[in-house]
Amino acid sequence: MTVDHPVFARLYPRVAAALDAAGGYQHRQELLAGLAGRVVELGAGHGANFVHYPGEVSEVIAVEPEPGLRRKAERAARHAATAIRVIDGDADDLDLPAASFDAAVTSLVLCSVPDQHRALAGVYRVLRPGGQLRFYEHVRSPHPVAARLQDTADVVWPAIAGGCHCNRDTLSAITGAGFQLGTSRTFSFRPNHVPTPTAPMILGHARKPPTDDTD
Ligand SMILES: C[S@@+](CC[C@H](N)C(=O)[O-])C[C@H]1O[C@@H](n2cnc3c(N)ncnc32)[C@H](O)[C@@H]1O
Repeated sequence: MTVDHPVFARLYPRVAAALDAAGGYQHRQELLAGLAGRVVELGAGHGANFVHYPGEVSEVIAVEPEPGLRRKAERAARHAATAIRVIDGDADDLDLPAASFDAAVTSLVLCSVPDQHRALAGVYRVLRPGGQLRFYEHVRSPHPVAARLQDTADVVWPAIAGGCHCNRDTLSAITGAGFQLGTSRTFSFRPNHVPTPTAPMILGHARKPPTDDTD
């Protein structure tokens, strides 16, 4: 699948910097704290997470299909303290060996993949039994009226936000894919109190069951 959003690729780093300045930076730190071993990051964008990987992480494979963002991520990887290899790829069709990673990271990406269930099945496959999925995602509001407003916004949102959907129930998709939920917190992230359909967020981790022997 081709992902080509040149305008989004130019604008996103500035949007992400503004969000990071308003608290996203701390969210990213929390997302990655305590990780170790081999990590796969899906839809790494321009590499905003790269500075946050702890020293115990031995290698990160960062998958990014959008060419403009991938070039920026390659530059960020060269300056990172962690060994990071940026590769082209599609989260919905991960071309990586089964059970080969200790952890997987998704941040603000399960909103954008064409098929969340397929992407999560791929993450499950490439994680070793007991491996962790760390997630930082904006999600469908738990409040029915707000969720209906997200459904309305989602008619145009993907066109202005690089294919991002603002109304997905991502936590249910994660548990539905077979992951055991660890800690997870839900909160509203609305920098400068600007109303946005992407305010409801989840941040946490889930685990592939340690006894899984399907790989
Ligand atoms: C909002 S950006 C988030 C980027 C980065 N993860 C971050 O936290 O800043 C969404 C990312 O998902 C990527 N993406 C879209 N479709 C994808 C797919 N099928 N497989 C992998 N990544 C995808 C986009 O190219 C983009 O980098």
